[in-house]
Amino acid sequence: MTTRDEGELLTRVGPGTPMGTLMRQYWIPAAPSSELVVDAPPTRLLLLGEKLVAFRDSAGRVGVIDHQCPHRCASLFYGRNEEGGLRCTYHGWKFDVDGNCLDTPNIPTHQSFTQKIRARAYRTAERNGIVWVYMGAAEQAPPLPCIEATLMPPEEVTTFFVQRECSWMQAMEGDIDTSHFAFLHAGGVAIDDVPEGHTAKFGLTHRAPEYHVADTDWGTMYAAHRPADPGNTYWRFAHFLFPFWTIPPDGDFKQHVITRAWVPMDDHHTMFVHLSWKRNTPGLRVLKDGSPVPGTARGNLGGPLLPNETGWYGRYRPAANLGNDHLIDRDAQLAGNYSGIEGIHMQDQAMTESMGPIADFASEHLALSDAMIVRTRRRLLQAVRAFQEGIAPPALENPEVCAGARGGDFVSSSSIGWLAAYAEEMRASANPTGALRQAAE
Ligand code: FES
Ligand SMILES: [Fe+2]
Repeated sequence: MTTRDEGELLTRVGPGTPMGTLMRQYWIPAAPSSELVVDAPPTRLLLLGEKLVAFRDSAGRVGVIDHQCPHRCASLFYGRNEEGGLRCTYHGWKFDVDGNCLDTPNIPTHQSFTQKIRARAYRTAERNGIVWVYMGAAEQAPPLPCIEATLMPPEEVTTFFVQRECSWMQAMEGDIDTSHFAFLHAGGVAIDDVPEGHTAKFGLTHRAPEYHVADTDWGTMYAAHRPADPGNTYWRFAHFLFPFWTIPPDGDFKQHVITRAWVPMDDHHTMFVHLSWKRNTPGLRVLKDGSPVPGTARGNLGGPLLPNETGWYGRYRPAANLGNDHLIDRDAQLAGNYSGIEGIHMQDQAMTESMGPIADFASEHLALSDAMIVRTRRRLLQAVRAFQEGIAPPALENPEVCAGARGGDFVSSSSIGWLAAYAEEMRASANPTGALRQAAE
């Protein structure tokens, strides 16, 4: 079990907290590049409990700086983004994307001390249509992640951001909790509804899989396994990658490039960042008669996002949310949609948000089906404690190890072990970025 103290360690991410300090060592996906427009008003950005503003200057460079002006702490959210910097509207001080003070126009020139003033600014980078932020203190920022889906060019990848009203930890754990799939998402699907030859039939025939779990160079991995045809095993592989990434199993392994970040906005709010290859083969979405799996007719989110607003919690909010019971439809629940909630993502959102802002881990009764969750918590706790002793956390200095992680489902001969089956499937898989490591053993 996880104690209350361990739960605190895992879920508190603000400045100075052990987990927050660990996360700050890695690059963080913070916003779609398209959200920041040249010389447009700044955006409020909440990351790891820090109130920041993000803006794109006249030259197209992205700045992510403390929202409080270093002069007298007025919010730079009200600032003017003009001519190569963000100007505070209180006394006109102006800052560039690196936090340098460019101008203090309320002070006579001979008294000016712009060189001594700096706004707290974080390093930024842009890749595959995403703005990345490095909030750590290292002189040299580490390399950007090497998780397969983060290496794809923007035209090859589907990206979306969705806010979730709970701790990053319980949100992320939804992705490594595979046995819920046959209930929450597919509880209303009968075996006879599954199209001929689709691997989903094995998952629905045996709704209580067994597991292998292991620590890896990038974090943790599991394989859920069930009997398939005689002599064969049905596998579902998935991963946790430091510090907050997952690779889920819901798709054909050979053709499944995907990752999801669970970025803490603060202790109680998470920004989900999804990246997936446009040529992925997803899991079961259509039944034998051509109708959608109940609960998937309106897409993954089950409905629209609300228009973004300017508040700290105003970005990428689903219209279905805790305040309206995620638009649960009790008639649909009786008629075949097991949860009564539309959209696979929204079903997960409802379950994890319903736990409260931070789940009380000490009240849980974990079972063998939670082996991956237990393993991942332990790996995170070990890494946090080791980092406090000066030991670099996993995949920080060597992010290329993450290219050994691929998730998905497949059937293989029962005569080979789980890691051998994984390595064999890796060798047979599409490798669109060229980064996929061809062995995982
Ligand atoms: S508070 Fe920003 S310029 Fe004075
Ligand atoms: Fe799920």
